[in-house]
Amino acid sequence: MNKPRVVLGVCGGIAAYKACELLRRFTESGHDVQVVPTASALRFVGEPTWAALSGHRVSSEVWESVHEVPHVRIGQAADLVVVAPATADLLARAAHGLADDLLTNTLLTARCPVIFAPAMHTEMWEHPATRENVATLRRRGAFVIEPAVGRLTGADTGRGRLPEPGAVFDACRRVLARGPRALEPDLAGRHVVISAGGTREPLDPVRYLGNRSSGKQGYALARTALARGAGVTLVAANTELPDPAGAEVVRVGTAEELREAVVKAAAGADAVVMAAAVADFRPAGRAQGKIKKREGVDPEAVALVRNPDILAELSVRRATPGQVVAGFAAETDDVLANGRAKLVRKGCDLLVVNEVGDGLAFGTDGNEAVILEAGGAETRVPYGPKEELADRVWDTIVRTLESRGDQQPAGG
Ligand code: C5P
Repeated sequence: MNKPRVVLGVCGGIAAYKACELLRRFTESGHDVQVVPTASALRFVGEPTWAALSGHRVSSEVWESVHEVPHVRIGQAADLVVVAPATADLLARAAHGLADDLLTNTLLTARCPVIFAPAMHTEMWEHPATRENVATLRRRGAFVIEPAVGRLTGADTGRGRLPEPGAVFDACRRVLARGPRALEPDLAGRHVVISAGGTREPLDPVRYLGNRSSGKQGYALARTALARGAGVTLVAANTELPDPAGAEVVRVGTAEELREAVVKAAAGADAVVMAAAVADFRPAGRAQGKIKKREGVDPEAVALVRNPDILAELSVRRATPGQVVAGFAAETDDVLANGRAKLVRKGCDLLVVNEVGDGLAFGTDGNEAVILEAGGAETRVPYGPKEELADRVWDTIVRTLESRGDQQPAGG
């Protein structure tokens, strides 16, 4: 498969060093990156660094390798152009269509999505000239990421910092995966509930019946929903992952605790996604003290009772009109047939089915799955980061919400 082609424009700001980290993220995740620095950028980070990290020759002006017509070819061939950091000067040149170096020529020839990640002092960012240039670029369809607030070059702080490379990378990944509409907040005004992790059912004060779910897929669902503008309640069972910024996180241990938290949060939600691995059974009783082994005595069998099926319950009792209920199903064999039967049995709107086994799904950063919809549609999502699968799940949920004509968010 061809690698996605990314042009990384770098301008002359102190944040140019952060673009090295951004470049690494691209190359390590299978992108082909052509770095196009401005002449000023090379005063901060030199040409050998960009060439070594990208594996390509690097130039900032149009007079090198002229026979290859780089001022046209680089932009034409790109799947995405991202300029990080973008200075006030570059935004001005781009807004006015100047073509006085290789980067501005590339911006004029590119027909793919273009992302600017500005970094500058607050005064420059707030200046009416910059405001108008940013508005012009946005009107023409470019994505201009809002700079972060924090420490600037000197001792001062304010808006104007380049967002962390991970955040810029995530915006780029989303645009590459989902096309030019990817950064529109299509879940704005919506409230979604996500369960993540795996429940633990205690046998005694120190032991439990558990499962291998890491919570990574549920957390990826939470991060992507936040990025798409949703209000998020994340019900997390026994996870050790950092809280996604902006989510309300409710921590639970057992299936019954998870049920209580999810049902409560679902009351005002537009969508509920059950990504948690919920134990189907729990020990019938919980020993008060630690269960002891006794010489010559066989261990007692553990009696199990059924846990409530939360997904089925949520599907039957929709807490709000038009609420979308989604589940995940991990299967080891007959993945699709089992998934289709489960979708019907549970009565949910969509079921994300994946195969589990060695190195698949549990604990890994990637996943592949098929999204089954109650109406019969089936979407195969090839192996990729868990964020990518999460975005496809939200695509389906947004489409379902819209098809129900429910333009009004729950509670709004
Ligand atoms: O039946 P199975 O456990 O394969 O179904 C998986 C889906 O059902 C997941 O979405 C999981 O969160 C949900 N589930 C549930 N309550 C249970 C068991 C599973 O909500 N007791």
